[in-house]
Amino acid sequence: MDAGGYDAELRRHDEVLRRAWGIRPHDHVLDIGCGTGQTTRQAARAAQAGSALGVDVSAPAIERARELARTEGLGNVAFEHADAQAHRFPDQHFDLAISRFGTMFFADPVAAFANVRRALRPAGRLVMMVWQSHERNEWDVAIHRSLAGPEGPVAVPAGPDPFSLADPPTVKQILGAAGLTDITFTDVHEPVYYGPGVPAALDWVRGFTSTSETLKRLDPAAAARAVGRLRETLSAHLGDDGVRFDSRAWIITARRG
Ligand SMILES: C[S@@+](CC[C@H](N)C(=O)[O-])C[C@H]1O[C@@H](n2cnc3c(N)ncnc32)[C@H](O)[C@@H]1O
Repeated sequence: MDAGGYDAELRRHDEVLRRAWGIRPHDHVLDIGCGTGQTTRQAARAAQAGSALGVDVSAPAIERARELARTEGLGNVAFEHADAQAHRFPDQHFDLAISRFGTMFFADPVAAFANVRRALRPAGRLVMMVWQSHERNEWDVAIHRSLAGPEGPVAVPAGPDPFSLADPPTVKQILGAAGLTDITFTDVHEPVYYGPGVPAALDWVRGFTSTSETLKRLDPAAAARAVGRLRETLSAHLGDDGVRFDSRAWIITARRG
């Protein structure tokens, strides 16, 4: 995943999320599914006398995260190539666990959040951003419709579900079973940004795993028509400040309890 692209896509979300973290200078912060580490670096800058650790299952993302942190000369940030569901974090070490869209893909969410909970200090908190449902996310609805077109719905490839934490009662059940308490949900209604113009936005959206996997399943002529429809959809969303789509996310907070 290209760091610049994803960080640009989520710039507005990021501002809201940073305010929700409430990081104090001495905090030790864990960033779950940190990708190329923008949020980990932000956390490290806020916790000047503390630290930030980013973990991700993607080795290339972690390599890039380390490179970017070195370039910025940050001394209190580290990255681990690890599955946050199973990694042996130090017990009761972190004041805060954060995540920007990195917690929706666990094979066993209860085990994963219980693992994160063990790593939190007694007063430790979890603050994560996740997508609300597919239907409430114009970007996903529009991409699906474009790929499907008049040929009808396309088979959605089975795989990680970015909307797995969209439903508050389900999330309360998962986090509660993991031992977390005081669970809150804040609605975040900000647009996603796909690029300054249609060609860049098309490249970006074609890079989504769900888009590329769907296109791969179509025969070449059907794939070309689907890309044409996607281009039209992106053009319809081009404004003065680039290609944007409406989106809905939750900021979910919880305590170790
Ligand atoms: C949508 S990306 C978000 C990346 C990053 N948080 C950001 O905002 O730039 C989701 C990330 O979660 C990571 N991920 C998925 N499952 C994971 C797991 N079990 N443990 C750690 N990271 C995971 C993926 O590799 C990916 O980098």
